[in-house]
Amino acid sequence: MKFQKAAVIGAGAMGSGIAQVLSQSGMEVILKDVNQDFIDRGLANIKRMYDSRVKKEVLTQAEADYLFAMVKTSTTYDGFKDVDLVIEAALEEIDVKIRIFQELDKHCAPHTVFATNTSALSISEIASHTKRPEQVLGMHFFNPAQTMKLVEVIPGVKTSQQVQDAVMALCKELRKIPVAVQECPGFLVNRVLFPYLNEALYVLEEGKFSPEEIDKQAVVFGLPMGPFTLLDMTGLDVCEHVTTFLYEEYGPRFQPASILSKLVKKGCLGQKTGAGFYIHEKGKVPKKDEPKQLNPVLVDLLKEHAQNNNAKSNDKAFDALRIILPMFNEAIYAVQEHVVEAQDVDTAIQWGLGLTRGLFSLAEEKGLNHCLNELESYQKAYGERFRPAWYLAKLVRATIHDFSQLKAVPVTVR
Ligand SMILES: NC(=O)c1ccc[n+]([C@@H]2O[C@H](COP(=O)([O-])OP(=O)(O)OC[C@H]3O[C@@H](n4cnc5c(N)ncnc54)[C@H](O)[C@@H]3O)[C@@H](O)[C@H]2O)c1
Repeated sequence: MKFQKAAVIGAGAMGSGIAQVLSQSGMEVILKDVNQDFIDRGLANIKRMYDSRVKKEVLTQAEADYLFAMVKTSTTYDGFKDVDLVIEAALEEIDVKIRIFQELDKHCAPHTVFATNTSALSISEIASHTKRPEQVLGMHFFNPAQTMKLVEVIPGVKTSQQVQDAVMALCKELRKIPVAVQECPGFLVNRVLFPYLNEALYVLEEGKFSPEEIDKQAVVFGLPMGPFTLLDMTGLDVCEHVTTFLYEEYGPRFQPASILSKLVKKGCLGQKTGAGFYIHEKGKVPKKDEPKQLNPVLVDLLKEHAQNNNAKSNDKAFDALRIILPMFNEAIYAVQEHVVEAQDVDTAIQWGLGLTRGLFSLAEEKGLNHCLNELESYQKAYGERFRPAWYLAKLVRATIHDFSQLKAVPVTVR
């Protein structure tokens, strides 16, 4: 199976980035959106990406012009008959995606593979609305798609191994780092990221540590930015949506801290509204070491929270491990459920979240036994959020101290 011609549905932030990545590999790409204005905006994005590569001397102007010309555009499905791969990056709404896949089924050749860039919707459900579910899968690129290396490759229930292998190989040709992830809510990276963000919110609610202090500790631990900086950047409304979704899917382990929705209700959505956990100057990207100004609305909400709740705080000083452990524990749950191979976790988390070191290698450094003990002690203090995955206890009992020893153990059932 060889992919020579592709199409991308949706010329927004993700679709334009994906089209640029495909065209840069020399593939002809049709970029489709619902009207010419959206297409023009997408093309302008792609042009900017190529201009920046010329500026950085990665490409010559002639090379950039040639590759940019590989992107054709359309508001219809004309020309879809001979594409080998379609990557859908339209709105995150199941009905919209189902309609698109039904149309694709009608307009594409029988061999065409369909991928969706959905962040959370069911790949199997989307696939079930086509006559070729064995040729449908998730290709979850990260934002910005043109620079982020990780792609989670997610088969649906019926996706054939041949299609998965071909898409994994294509990602490598595109100079991406693909990781096979079985379908589950949040896939791997978001599933692991959100318990960390949520725990940081709980620490904040206890009133002992400021967002800036927590952010600093997370960076010392090897994260590219702290949880509150990331929440503000991503948008608090988007994060609230994901947190609620994961809680509905996984239950008490994902019980959301209330401060997030309180800020959203006050209209504080992060950088895009000028205030989230911090105050942001519109259009200005804050420098790493610049002192941050706390949002006064947050200060009031935290005071109110302290009055209404007996803040549950143990005697320990803040240790970044408290927010890292839920992340690590969730990755173990994913391995336990055969969602991901243990040896792929560090790759996925490093390339998807920008951690300077692997989550599992970090846990090995601390000692798996120590991580388990800490999880158990936090579970006593804070409950279900810290319930250790039984697989971790099993590893500790088996005196397995590093995940490389698992390479001989088949952890996936596929
Ligand atoms: N933005 C992110 O950080 C991110 C990261 C990973 C995955 N995703 C997923 O990628 C997808 C796209 O996200 P985005 O941020 O690029 O959204 P966006 O709003 O920037 O772009 C979506 C584009 O799809 C177009 N569109 C809508 N319906 C269409 C249709 N029927 N046919 C063709 N085009 C149509 C819209 O006009 C718009 O231009 C979503 O499923 C999202 O969940 C987003």
